[in-house]
Amino acid sequence: MTPDDLPVIDMADVEASAAAERYRRVRRRTEALAAPLSPEDQAAQSMPDASPTKWHRAHTTWFFETFLLVPFLPGYAVHDRDYGYLFNSYYEAVGPRQPRPERGLLTRPSTPAIGAYRAHVDAAMERLLVGPLTAEISERLELGLAHEEQHQELILMDILHLFAQSPLSPAYQSAAAGRADPGAQRFHRFEGGVVEIGAEKAGFAFDNERPRHRVYVAPFRLSDRLVTNGEWIAFIDAGGYQRVDLWLSEGWTRAREEGWTAPAYWRREEDRTWTAMSLQGRRPVDPNAPVVHVSYYEAAAFAAWAGRRLPTEAEWEVAATAPGGMAPRQLYGAAWQWTSSAYAPYPGFKPGPGALGEYNGKFMVNQMVLRGGCQATPPGHSRATYRNFFHPDRRWMFAGVRLADDDGLDEATPASSFLDEVVAGLSATPKTLPAKYFYDAEGSRLFEQICALPEYYLTRTETALLREIAPEIAACIPGDAALVEFGSGASTKTRILLDAAPQVSVYAPIDISPTALDAAAASLRADYPNLTVAPLVGDFTKALSAPEGARGRPIVGFFPGSTIGNFSPDEAEVLLRQAREWLGEGAIFVIGADVAKDPGVLIPAYDDARGVTAAFNRNILVHINRELGGSFDPEAFAHRAVWNAEESRIEMHLESVRDKIVMVGDRGVRFAKGETIHTENSYKYRPEAFEAIAGRAGWTVARRWVSPDPAFAVYMLAA
Ligand code: SAH
Ligand code: AVI
Repeated sequence: MTPDDLPVIDMADVEASAAAERYRRVRRRTEALAAPLSPEDQAAQSMPDASPTKWHRAHTTWFFETFLLVPFLPGYAVHDRDYGYLFNSYYEAVGPRQPRPERGLLTRPSTPAIGAYRAHVDAAMERLLVGPLTAEISERLELGLAHEEQHQELILMDILHLFAQSPLSPAYQSAAAGRADPGAQRFHRFEGGVVEIGAEKAGFAFDNERPRHRVYVAPFRLSDRLVTNGEWIAFIDAGGYQRVDLWLSEGWTRAREEGWTAPAYWRREEDRTWTAMSLQGRRPVDPNAPVVHVSYYEAAAFAAWAGRRLPTEAEWEVAATAPGGMAPRQLYGAAWQWTSSAYAPYPGFKPGPGALGEYNGKFMVNQMVLRGGCQATPPGHSRATYRNFFHPDRRWMFAGVRLADDDGLDEATPASSFLDEVVAGLSATPKTLPAKYFYDAEGSRLFEQICALPEYYLTRTETALLREIAPEIAACIPGDAALVEFGSGASTKTRILLDAAPQVSVYAPIDISPTALDAAAASLRADYPNLTVAPLVGDFTKALSAPEGARGRPIVGFFPGSTIGNFSPDEAEVLLRQAREWLGEGAIFVIGADVAKDPGVLIPAYDDARGVTAAFNRNILVHINRELGGSFDPEAFAHRAVWNAEESRIEMHLESVRDKIVMVGDRGVRFAKGETIHTENSYKYRPEAFEAIAGRAGWTVARRWVSPDPAFAVYMLAA
């Protein structure tokens, strides 16, 4: 074929047929959503905010008829003159309308008659969309389709509310699979600065998303996932709905008036478990799923209880558009996320002319912005600039919570501080690296292997001692206590305490290794179904806020493994003092610390025959290579374990076997042959020496237990 033989394609026709296809797809989806509903289901209205399904079907149709067919399709005859009154939602410029709370009284036109109305308008739209389409028609079509998609979500919200009124708790759809454990919350740090938010000029967006404009956003942190039902249950159990200090005044009043004790649709069953009404009927609350059906007031109270805050809409958008894997999880498909931003016009916003100018602008008061999207949001409907909005007391939409925080300089900021600390350590003389960076997934796995080595007596000895003394420790633990563990790893020793002290109701492990923490949390949840597990990924040497769930309970700190020995005596004192402040008055703190002994026993424990400790030591280089773009050859570093008698510590080093330059990010680090990186200290304390440190940090030593040789000590401190 020569080019002349090719059929001539008019791009305007292509666009028109794509538009027609898009129109059909959106309209069909509405009908599919209504298909499982009987005419009775489709006619009822359960509250003023909710509308009957058949009204949604008719109103979306009226929208196309009023704003596209009447003005643009020559000769179009309206389907029924009365429908303008019945199915106008809120457009004052178009005329008077059926009062919103009385939409459920419209038993006529019947559900089949609404189907006929839809078919009539669809047929006329096909005629309009044969094209070519003017810019105005295209714009209004896009708006009409986005509008219909909004009503698709409303259909599901409103049906859920309706079905929730029924003693039969009907299921709209079949049950979905349970959710996997989402893992601990991680707060990613965002730099902020002067940023641009809002929709660009090109492409479809609602008027309220424009104009794109600049705002200043202070550095902030945002959780990479949503608050779960499990965490919400911890909030309820901690008396969150009864504590006035957590609530906004208006929220407190509304919560009293309406008797809120849990999210909307939740019910406490006789066996004390929670169920919730959902589109799948009444089901047990899934602790792993994001909480939904909470008002802004509840979201704000939860954030206050968690020692965090809600994000602003600008913060949310900055994070959602962040490059390179920094964007948080669960942005769009799980739950709308309340922001602390009032729904107000962006600078430069002007409502458009005519009735369509009423679309969003006139609602810009007394409502809060929600960002993201939810399970009921049509696929592809939402975007990073999308501004949903509701009054702060509404709960029937699928609204949940993502926590934010100010950027305290005092909390772990995973990526950036890792680089800073590594660069600082490798620039020092002699070179050092912080031991906490051993613990990526592989490091945590290797540490568990070390624990099982014949030479590494610490774990075996401490475990045996804990088994023996667990009843004595348990006797000191008050009812309903929270157990907060530092450097929990696989949480294996924790089980000894939990088995002896069933009165512990909340377990809050803190660890820098997310994989270790996630695995431990999942396994404890499975084995201790009555225990609330509230893990926290972070560096426990940084000022942390008390873990959610621990608040208001008697607190027991737990710090086994001799991890305290990985800090110098001065650092240990600071850490113990911080822990005392953090755990609070009346807390007890159970700490395991290794005891000084013969180097003939110590050195093999840190230089085992199978080379597991050597692999653990070298793994810090692998971790740096992966996360910070390092060029270390781990095999070019030899593992060294030495006893420093003066300091009473085992030191681990990595010794360079030749001269070389290693890159870390964009920096070169020079190594001479034989030069070492000091990677870890493990201090070994005489019990009196350890107790002196604890005393200086403000603790009273309540008990001390020391195992038979090889000696290992467990101390019980009291605040
Ligand atoms: N408690 C367990 C694990 C000890 S290993 C046991 O006794 O067997 C030390 C643990 O502390 C690791 O899981 C490591 O990831 C964690 N860790 C080390 N330094 C940390 C820090 N600064 N902040 C939080 N966790 C830390
Ligand atoms: C976690 N910490 C107490 C261990 C220790 O014994 O210092 C880490 C370790 N280093 C080498 N082997 C084990």
